[in-house]
Amino acid sequence: MSTLQNRTAKSGRETFTSGLAVFFATLGSAVGLGNIWKFPYLTGQFGGGAFLLVYFLCILFVGLPVMLGEFYIGRKTRKNAVGAFQQLKPVSGWKHIGTMGVAAAYLIMFFYSCVAGWVYYYLYKAVKGDFIAITPESVKTQFTDVIIGPVSPILWQVIVMAVVGGILILGVRKGIERITKTLMPLLFVLIVICGIRAITLPGAYEGLKFLFHVDFSQLSAAAILTAMGLAFFKLSLGMGTMITYGSYFTADNNLFGTAAKVALSDTIVSMLAGIAIFPTVFSFGMEPGAGPGLLFMTIPLVFSKMPFGNLLLIAFFFLTSIAATTAMLSLVEVLVAYFSEELGFSRRNAAIINAVIICGVGMLAALSADQASLLGNVTFLGRGFFDWFDYISSNILLPMGGLFIAIFIGYFLKKDDIKKELSNQGNLTIDKLIDVYFVIIRYVTPALLVIVFLNSIGIIKV
Ligand code: TRP
Repeated sequence: MSTLQNRTAKSGRETFTSGLAVFFATLGSAVGLGNIWKFPYLTGQFGGGAFLLVYFLCILFVGLPVMLGEFYIGRKTRKNAVGAFQQLKPVSGWKHIGTMGVAAAYLIMFFYSCVAGWVYYYLYKAVKGDFIAITPESVKTQFTDVIIGPVSPILWQVIVMAVVGGILILGVRKGIERITKTLMPLLFVLIVICGIRAITLPGAYEGLKFLFHVDFSQLSAAAILTAMGLAFFKLSLGMGTMITYGSYFTADNNLFGTAAKVALSDTIVSMLAGIAIFPTVFSFGMEPGAGPGLLFMTIPLVFSKMPFGNLLLIAFFFLTSIAATTAMLSLVEVLVAYFSEELGFSRRNAAIINAVIICGVGMLAALSADQASLLGNVTFLGRGFFDWFDYISSNILLPMGGLFIAIFIGYFLKKDDIKKELSNQGNLTIDKLIDVYFVIIRYVTPALLVIVFLNSIGIIKV
């Protein structure tokens, strides 16, 4: 690309308009399907309060440092995930961390868009009143009908991608910023309402106990590794999402502050989701360890038995749709920014082409989510398409990306450059913080990640 083109591309680049916009967009990326079923379910399963404690430590020593590193790379270069590395280290292989991120964005989207499709479909069904006279048997049939299809899961996946693609075509300010600034506060209100309803149910105490009791005897090595993986997935790390969003941050944004606020708020949303779900599950004597099915098979049932149940059910699936959608905006934006800045596509074409690719390949996930699905029996080494997309992205690409980012920041860049950017050219006094940050990103973060990574690919078994 010529210098002239470079300059035009740079000057025409959008940023968010304010610190508040930065916060809501970034939080919109972090808050997603991960909060609403993964976090509460894993917390309950791995020892409640004790697991929470480990999760906080993972956020502190791995999540926050990597997030800050990604913010730095993005805002310093004002480029997409691939272009950013190329600008910092022009003749080297580092840009392939970005390439890996692009691959991870596709893989995550292939199955995430499918699950989001189920959520949209459930919202539609709730509005239609399909769950009003629901029974334990019929809720199961409804769920299997939704995921087996074969037409409905694909159709709803296409609708999801049309919404996500449509918002992204509008751009960083009119699309991402406007949507996240409107919907994130609404999501917060809805989740608080659902939480209040849940803790006022008879028997709710059991649910809170399940979620928050501290039982160190359950703190296995597996629990620690799970907490680490969750921290990555939750905070959208390891694949360039936070590089891309960081590249839209305002120049005066306090990056340390944003990282801390986003991590804290994301955790609060996760706990509110747990507070909304578990008391309800216990109050109605249901199985708390049901995983992904928990959301789809128990929530309609529990809400149907309450006063204003259908209204709450609609609110619940509406907030889940918001969470999934704003998270997907950040995943697909990695692709849109890459296509438009590196490959010369217009923003509009980049959004359309990627939505089509995601629907096209993601269809394989939609058709392999259940044993009884059309492609439910097609497996390679014991996993179907759906599971492979999830496994390769979450267990391999994200921790590997995080590790490379930590090493890149800790060993291959100048500490002074980083200090200058993180202190907004000296406007913030962060000398001590920077020293602590460097010790963590150089030694602690990589060491912890190596352990997780070796475990995830099965080299060490814990
Ligand atoms: N954090 C989101 C969730 O909890 C998912 C997500 C969005 C994500 N962007 C990401 C996960 C980038 C990993 C990497 O649902």
